[in-house]
Amino acid sequence: MAAFAPPPGTADIFPAEAGSWRFLENTAAEIFSNYGYGELRTPVFEYTEVFQRGLGGETEVVQKEMYTFEDRGGRSLTLRPEGTAGVMRALTNTDVANGTEQRVFYYGPMFRGERPSAGRRRQFHQIGVENVGRCAPLIDAECIAMLYNFLKAIGIEGAQFTINTRGIGADRAPAEAMLREYFARHIDQMCPDCRTRLERNIWRILDCKQDSCGKIIADAPDYLQSFSPESREYFEEVKSALTMLGVPFKADSKLVRGLDYYVHTVFEVTHPELPGQIAIAGGGRYELFLPGEKKPLPGVGFATGVERLLMVRDALNAVPPETAATGIFLIGLGKEARLANLTLADKLRTAGFRVELELEERSFKAQMRSANRCQAKYTLIRGESEMEKNIAIIKDMTDGSQTEIPESELFANISAKMK
Ligand code: HAM
Repeated sequence: MAAFAPPPGTADIFPAEAGSWRFLENTAAEIFSNYGYGELRTPVFEYTEVFQRGLGGETEVVQKEMYTFEDRGGRSLTLRPEGTAGVMRALTNTDVANGTEQRVFYYGPMFRGERPSAGRRRQFHQIGVENVGRCAPLIDAECIAMLYNFLKAIGIEGAQFTINTRGIGADRAPAEAMLREYFARHIDQMCPDCRTRLERNIWRILDCKQDSCGKIIADAPDYLQSFSPESREYFEEVKSALTMLGVPFKADSKLVRGLDYYVHTVFEVTHPELPGQIAIAGGGRYELFLPGEKKPLPGVGFATGVERLLMVRDALNAVPPETAATGIFLIGLGKEARLANLTLADKLRTAGFRVELELEERSFKAQMRSANRCQAKYTLIRGESEMEKNIAIIKDMTDGSQTEIPESELFANISAKMK
């Protein structure tokens, strides 16, 4: 059967689950549009340099996780590992370059060649937003509050928000010097990855999860003190706005995030119900230099992992999306009845109603089972004798009551019931 299983780290989403996906996507669209965001759909693959430059060549994602291939002309393409870089690429072709603010949201599959495990997939799905063209602490706070409200709306209470600041470009060198001096003194007791990070990307040491490194990282000097007053003021404003908006959060200077484009605010959201404290969402403020552009574009945004949101919802037994019975199932016994049902179904569907029916010759019992399975609110039944009398029986599936309706009144009768 292995040939029929999807590749590791990917999954089929069957109709029974797809309702929850749709619910998350619809709720996101509704909430985000209340904040002025519109949907943007970008390609699932881009020229590789969009991600190399956008995410940073030293990041784990770019170095180890991208699905990269050549197109027929020999140009390197990559399946998108995240949404931000492609959104920014798309937006440079709009009037955002002239200073217009753009607020967009997106959902869709992302691809990272990670080792699959619970909540870690190679094809996963993000719901994300980007607010591009402006830079202000209140925008960052508004964006985080929107994420908080979205999580609440999909039944996820108890999410933990951690925030930090990455400062501006000029803040990095003094802070790096401070951290390098400290970690160099302890590097002998640290893991091999951290030894490489000491040279290549010191910040990544701060989110190393190895036990051997934990204590050393906990005692690292408070590098935020070396940041410019401007950056620290920016961060203070984000925090007080979040408090005003009622978003509970914890500030933690160890949060650096895995992508290089961040400046100022960064944040991550975890939930106690998710094993290993893996994030259900992450984001922050960034500056992105696009191929051929000299000036970076400022933006702030986040992405949530749909599979992980669903895992938390399941663990919390969050109320499933509306499952109330709707629609009608048409049972037909005999060719004449099936034909009449097909015509009626066509009329009802065109009028906007959900209709299912059996079009193969099957027993009454089997058709009744299908009616129950499809959770229709009504079932219409007609066999040869009903056809002769020019009537059909309509059964209300909630209370079991049955009524005989003349053929000429069927459409109007059913339409009125299902409105
Ligand atoms: P990220 O933290 O790399 O950020 O991913 C965001 C979310 O996507 C994670 O918190 C997680 O829920 C989900 N996710 C990531 N990798 C996987 C995986 N392998 N399997 C399942 N879920 C996963 C970004 O992608 C940034 N583009 C977010 C952003 C938007 N920053 C600014 N704007």
